[in-house]
Amino acid sequence: MKTTVIILAAGKGKRMNSNINKQYIEINNKPILVYTLEKFQESECIDEIVLVVGKEDIEYVEKEIKNKYCFEKINYVVEGGVERQDSVYEGIKKVSNDTDIILIHDGARPFVSISNIRKLVNEIPIHKACILGVKVKDTIKMVDNDGYIVNTPDRKNLYAAQTPQGFLKDIIEKAYEIGINENKFFTDDSMLVEEYLNTKVKVVEGSYENIKITTKEDIDIAKRYIEEYYK
Ligand code: CTP
Ligand code: MG
Repeated sequence: MKTTVIILAAGKGKRMNSNINKQYIEINNKPILVYTLEKFQESECIDEIVLVVGKEDIEYVEKEIKNKYCFEKINYVVEGGVERQDSVYEGIKKVSNDTDIILIHDGARPFVSISNIRKLVNEIPIHKACILGVKVKDTIKMVDNDGYIVNTPDRKNLYAAQTPQGFLKDIIEKAYEIGINENKFFTDDSMLVEEYLNTKVKVVEGSYENIKITTKEDIDIAKRYIEEYYK
């Protein structure tokens, strides 16, 4: 089965509070986005990469990332949209016609492992829609608008959603077409499938290392991971 990954790097990274966009921050002289791309370039499960970036970064990414690091799986560097969901939709439009499976991954998650990519991709023909997730470590409280606890869900049923999230192409295309038309916003890709399609989404156990680089503290964690794993 042919598999395409859409890698998202068109956000503004506001919570990072940095003058350069978070995915281009360098660790050991290499932009974070390059660490992410390397995983999918190396993965034997991935045939094609569609990279979604900000309009002002297209030229830099073509030259300084795609060409410089020889990411020959990248078929398109495409301009993203205002919300994450708009960026995904722009990516979906560029996926090759003969692709069977689409993965969607945050460019800001450089520590996804090649073995977890494989694990996820292998489950998609069986379940049609799968995401990587990890068991939450804390007890989670549901609160009302005044901050009073209304219930404490059983922790054994709670997972933190990660990316990649992977789907049969027809399913994710359909879910996004409906979502974009309805102009409703969701916090991850599987939510559109949960909301609009009669398809159950399977959680595949991921790893705690697969963090999303969001704030300054995450850069310190990323540096430590890179010291440990890439030496
Ligand atoms: N993303 C995107 N297009 C958008 C918004 C987000 O491609 N319009 C991407 C980001 O580049 C990131 C991923 O989606 O890789 C996850 O989003 P998030 O961590 O929220 O990144 P930002 O939106 O850039 O950060 P912030 O919310 O702090 O502004
Ligand atoms: Mg955001």
